[in-house]
Amino acid sequence: MDKKLQSINLNKIPNHIAVIMDGNGRWAKNKGMQRVFGHRNALTAIRETADTASELGVKYLTMYAFSTENWNRPKFEVDALMSLLITTLKKELPEFQRKNVKINSIGDTQSLPKSAQKVLNKVIEETKNNTKITLSFALSYGSREEIVNTIKNISKKVVNKELDIEKIDQNIINNHLYTFNLPDVDLMIRTSGEQRISNFLLWQMAYAELYFTEILWPDFRKENLFDAIIDYQNRERRFGKTSEQIKTNE
Ligand code: IPE
Ligand code: IPE
Ligand code: MG
Repeated sequence: MDKKLQSINLNKIPNHIAVIMDGNGRWAKNKGMQRVFGHRNALTAIRETADTASELGVKYLTMYAFSTENWNRPKFEVDALMSLLITTLKKELPEFQRKNVKINSIGDTQSLPKSAQKVLNKVIEETKNNTKITLSFALSYGSREEIVNTIKNISKKVVNKELDIEKIDQNIINNHLYTFNLPDVDLMIRTSGEQRISNFLLWQMAYAELYFTEILWPDFRKENLFDAIIDYQNRERRFGKTSEQIKTNE
């Protein structure tokens, strides 16, 4: 049995893990290849992370695949990422079914190419009754765009008198975010050594534990996920209380 796996407390598994999959371009460059080669080699890491998380009992895994800012990359790279998205979703659908994975998306998915929207909607629809894990892909996702969208939708309800302005609270806001069907993030992992959030889940990460690793995303394997979870399990999540209160369960 894996030694690292043995040191994981299965009663303290994070319910929701979010991952900023970063470093594909540098990984390819290190090998003297084009950036797109790195994106293609990211799939093994995604599969292994999802399988391992699922086996450990993680219920929600959210992967940052394409940000609102990533639209500003060279057209060649954006096109390659979009075709990779389409082929991967098509290819993986039977695997999602076999592994009982529910697929979800967050982001301004209307701005994706029509063909990508089509296959994404199909995969979401066909996996909607799966129950082992919810695997969300953040596609054309930006936290600020999400907040703008949320404010617009809430304002419309106020204007149409469907919602009383005094009723707006954290719950109402949660229910209008792209993540309305997801719980708060417990653990956020970012690869490639960058220590920033890059416009990912700002509201949802208010009390997440942040874990940064130097590993470039295409090299991320189950041992790296174990490391992140072990690190998470050694932290004390206080949510503003004192350590004494946490220890005595007050
Ligand atoms: C992450 O890898 C994947 C996407 C943002 C789509 P990058 O493409 O950002 O790789 P680096 O950071 O340039 O190495
Ligand atoms: C964040 O990575 C977005 C994704 C992983 C999809 P970036 O590589 O785009 O982030 P920055 O630009 O380095 O902050
Ligand atoms: Mg990057």
